[in-house]
Amino acid sequence: MSRSRLGIRFKAQISSVQGMPRKIFRPFLMVTSFAVVVASCGRNAPQDTWQPKGPNAKLIDDLQQPVFAVAGIIGLIVAVAITYTVIKYRDRGQPIPEQIHGKPALEITLTVIPALILAVVAVFTFGAIFKLAKTDDTQMIINVTGQQWWWEYDYPVQNEYGITQPIITSGQLVMPVGTKVLLRETSRDVIHSYWIPALNGKRDAVPGRVHTLRLEADAPGIYAGQCTEFCGLSHANMRMEAVALSKEDFAKWVANQQAPYVAPVKDSLAAQGEEVFLNQCVRCHQVNGLMRADGTPAIAAPDENVWSGAAPNLTHLMSRNTFAGAMFDLLSKQCRDEVWNAPSDVVGAKYLAGVSEGCLNQKDLRAWLRNAPEVKPMYANSTQLVASGGKYRGMPYLALSEDDISKLVAYLITLK
Ligand code: CUA
Repeated sequence: MSRSRLGIRFKAQISSVQGMPRKIFRPFLMVTSFAVVVASCGRNAPQDTWQPKGPNAKLIDDLQQPVFAVAGIIGLIVAVAITYTVIKYRDRGQPIPEQIHGKPALEITLTVIPALILAVVAVFTFGAIFKLAKTDDTQMIINVTGQQWWWEYDYPVQNEYGITQPIITSGQLVMPVGTKVLLRETSRDVIHSYWIPALNGKRDAVPGRVHTLRLEADAPGIYAGQCTEFCGLSHANMRMEAVALSKEDFAKWVANQQAPYVAPVKDSLAAQGEEVFLNQCVRCHQVNGLMRADGTPAIAAPDENVWSGAAPNLTHLMSRNTFAGAMFDLLSKQCRDEVWNAPSDVVGAKYLAGVSEGCLNQKDLRAWLRNAPEVKPMYANSTQLVASGGKYRGMPYLALSEDDISKLVAYLITLK
C-alpha cells in the first residue's frame, strides 16, 4: 500500500467515529471534552479526597498535592511534545527520513530523570505510610466488621470514655473529635474495604485477619464514605458515615447507647409492634433488654438465619440517621439537610436529637420492611440459598401485612 493511501486512511479514521459524518464529529469531540472537564467540577462532593478533615487525611493530601503537580507538569509536557510532533511531522508525502537506531545519551537521560523523580516520591510516600501505620499513640479503639452489605461497630469497654459495657451499632461510626481512634477491621464473609476519604485512606477488611486504620477528626461533623472493594450484589449500597462529636456530646452519646430498654406503653400501636418484632425480627436483630411475653430475654440468633452470622443490633436504631447499611436515611430529606449542613458547634446537638416522629423517613423504611430485597439487591435468586443451607445474605422478604408494617414502624421509632 502506498504511503499516501495510508495517510488518507489515517485522516479518515481520526475524523469519524463508527461512520459518524465528519461534519458532526468535530462538534461532538468538543462537546464531549467539555462535558468531561465540567463533570470534574462537582460542588457537593462529600467524598472529595482533596478536602481532608483530620490529620491522617491531611498527611495523604500533603503528599498527593506535590505529586499531582509534578505528574501534571510532566503530563502536560508529554502532551505538548506529542501534539507538536504529530502536527509538524505529519505525512505530507515527503520522503521517509533516514532511519537511525539508538541514541544512548538520550535514552539514559530519559531513564534516569523519571527514576530520580520516582525515587524522591518514594521517599515521601514511605514516610507517610509509616506515619499512618503508627498505633502506639492510639487513644480509643473501635472494632469494625464488614459484612454483605453493612458495617458493624463494636466499642469494647473503655472506662475513660464512660464505655462500661460493649456498645454495638452499625452504619454510622460515632467518635469523639481530636481523638486518635484506632479501627480494628475484619470481615465475616468476603473482602470489604473501609474508606472515609475526609479522615484517612482505605483499608481492606479481610476475613480471618485484623487490619488497623487510624481515624481522627478535627471538628464535629458527619463524614461520608463507602465500601471500596467489590463485595457482591450490593457493594455500591454498602455505605458508611463517620460522625465526629465534641467530647461532651460523645459522652452523651455513650450514655444513651448504654441506657436501659424502655418498653412501649401497654396496648399502644408501638406495643403491638413490639409483638410483631418478637415474632418476626428478633430471629436476627437484637434489641438489648427486650423481653418475651414469658419474661425471658429475647436473644437474636442471626447465626441460624444469616449466612455471615450477624444482623444489625437495633437497640438504639433511632439514634442513627441511616439504616440498611447506610443506604437509606432514617431522616426525611429536610431534616437530614438540617443535620448535615449544621455548623460544627451545633451539629452534635442536632445529631444527638435522633429521629423524631415528624422527621422519620417513613417511605423508605416502609418499603424496606415491605420487601427489603426489592429495594436493595441482596441475593440473586432463591436457588442460591440452597448452597448456603437456606441462610440469607441480607434481609429477606418477610411478607408482612401493611398493618404489621405500621405497627413495626410505631415500635421502631421508640428505639431511641
Ligand atoms: Cu463491601 Cu464492597
